Amino acid sequence: MKKFNNVIVRRPCRRLVEGITSGLYPGRPDYELALKQHDSYIKALAQCGVRVTVLPADEAFPDSCFVEDPAVLTERCAIITNPGAASRNGETVSLEKTIRLFYPEERIEHITSPGTLEGGDVMMCGDHFFVGRSERTNEEGIRQFAQTLARYGYTCSEVALEHVLHLKTGVNYLENNNLLVSGEFIDKADFRDYRKIVIPEEEAYAANCIWVNDTVIVPEGYPAVLEAVRSLGYDVITVDTSEYRKLDGGLSCLSLRF
Ligand code: GLY
Repeated sequence: MKKFNNVIVRRPCRRLVEGITSGLYPGRPDYELALKQHDSYIKALAQCGVRVTVLPADEAFPDSCFVEDPAVLTERCAIITNPGAASRNGETVSLEKTIRLFYPEERIEHITSPGTLEGGDVMMCGDHFFVGRSERTNEEGIRQFAQTLARYGYTCSEVALEHVLHLKTGVNYLENNNLLVSGEFIDKADFRDYRKIVIPEEEAYAANCIWVNDTVIVPEGYPAVLEAVRSLGYDVITVDTSEYRKLDGGLSCLSLRF
């Protein structure tokens, strides 16, 4: 099934090494290696039949390669978010200029203060969107998001987060009713109607895989997840994201797919 025609990515900037980190995966990112991994990521996406728009590095924002957070792009509208992390809030400005090349003015929406929302907390499952209430996404942000989605015929439900940074840190939809789940999401009633693929704790990072037009991109180094995804019948590409992991970033964080 071809669902996505376009992907937007932003090259990592040198200040990537100053990006926000919880320290869960210790170490300082190696910038040159991060660039090489980004090259591989773009190559993998291009193999999935999408046109990849590559934005230049933005030194003003250390975390700006994680383009998933400042916007949510759907078939019917684009929603520019209001990131809850202060150092990331301004990332929306230049990204919106690019998004305007793809969406007409009347289909570009905004989350505004006091609402905050980051795209990493949003998981699209068909016409339904799950939104994590996290330290970055607040009640008012979710209220605005749900109201906006409703105008476009989408539904939305809130998922309470306990430990993870973003919703998609621990749960990701692979289409065909298949859901990768780890940690706090394994037993959540919110996901009872999906076929759950439970990720072992030692491979929790790899819950963050991305489905792109029937290919699933899996982070390199997670054999159990790789095998589980393969056994579902998907084509699989692996990409090493070790330098982004040090900043709590995963495969989904590095692109907008639409
Ligand atoms: N370093 C990614 C984030 O915390 O937003």
